[in-house]
Amino acid sequence: MSQKVAVLGTGKIGEALLSGMIRAGWAPADLLVTARRPERAEELRTRYGVATVSNTEAAKTADTLILTVKPQDMGALLDELAPHVPADRLVISGAAGIPTSFFEERLATGTPVVRVMTNTPALVDEAMSVISAGSHATAEHVAHAEEIFGAVGKTLRVPESQQDACTALSGSGPAYFFYLVEAMTDAGILLGLPRDKAHDLIVQSAIGAAVMLRDSGEHPVKLRENVTSPAGTTINAIRELENHGVRAALIAALEAARDRSRELASGKKD
Ligand SMILES: NC(=O)c1ccc[n+]([C@@H]2O[C@H](COP(=O)([O-])OP(=O)(O)OC[C@H]3O[C@@H](n4cnc5c(N)ncnc54)[C@H](OP(=O)(O)O)[C@@H]3O)[C@@H](O)[C@H]2O)c1
Repeated sequence: MSQKVAVLGTGKIGEALLSGMIRAGWAPADLLVTARRPERAEELRTRYGVATVSNTEAAKTADTLILTVKPQDMGALLDELAPHVPADRLVISGAAGIPTSFFEERLATGTPVVRVMTNTPALVDEAMSVISAGSHATAEHVAHAEEIFGAVGKTLRVPESQQDACTALSGSGPAYFFYLVEAMTDAGILLGLPRDKAHDLIVQSAIGAAVMLRDSGEHPVKLRENVTSPAGTTINAIRELENHGVRAALIAALEAARDRSRELASGKKD
């Protein structure tokens, strides 16, 4: 497979991907980008030394097209691209909630489509990107998508039927941790700490806990038990979390996110 890759609709996620690919060794000469506004195209050209082209030019030239416009802009982009995308081009969608069938119905019969749900830590090369093959995508196409999104973090292959659940877990996941840090920082203020100190204590604790979860290979229950001594401080806090139904709230919250993802995927916008 030739390696000319185009990023179409290079906003926050598209730029994170572009910069990650260049840092991972892609030659800027093999990368094309498109943008809606000329000043944005100029910014990308200057910052990364990549060629900026029209959407139709990208469709004709690149072997792999990565579409990173907002979901509501995808229909219009596909209308513009469809007449120009040969059926042997790999089309990778980075848009939340849009099924591969949406692309397959609008592109030439047999076009391979791969759907990827990444998350905002792509901006710091710590993304969790969940990858599913459309009906014409081969293992080689999926591997190519993994290579591209692997430039900004971890990747995981799942059947497309699990994409809504993954959106609830990792797509929206960073927001739950931000929310938790916000709430714990407020608790620190209640306990008499200045906001900046409370923030630093919680953020470093979150980083430490995340690295232990990733690197120790231990179950989270075991890691928590290690800091939960009999009649100690932690178990008193855990009792309050259980009394307030935090575990049940998290389960309900992720179920609600999964349900909303399903609704959006089926075209229900409000
Ligand atoms: N941000 C997240 O948390 C996140 C996480 C996972 C997945 N995603 C997915 O990633 C995609 C991009 O999200 P984002 O946050 O990066 O959005 P964004 O910053 O708004 O980027 C989208 C870009 O596409 C451009 N665009 C729209 N229509 C275009 C067209 N026809 N031709 C060329 N460029 C066009 C927009 O131009 P303008 O600047 O003129 O509007 C914008 O720069 C979305 O589909 C989203 O579902 C986002």
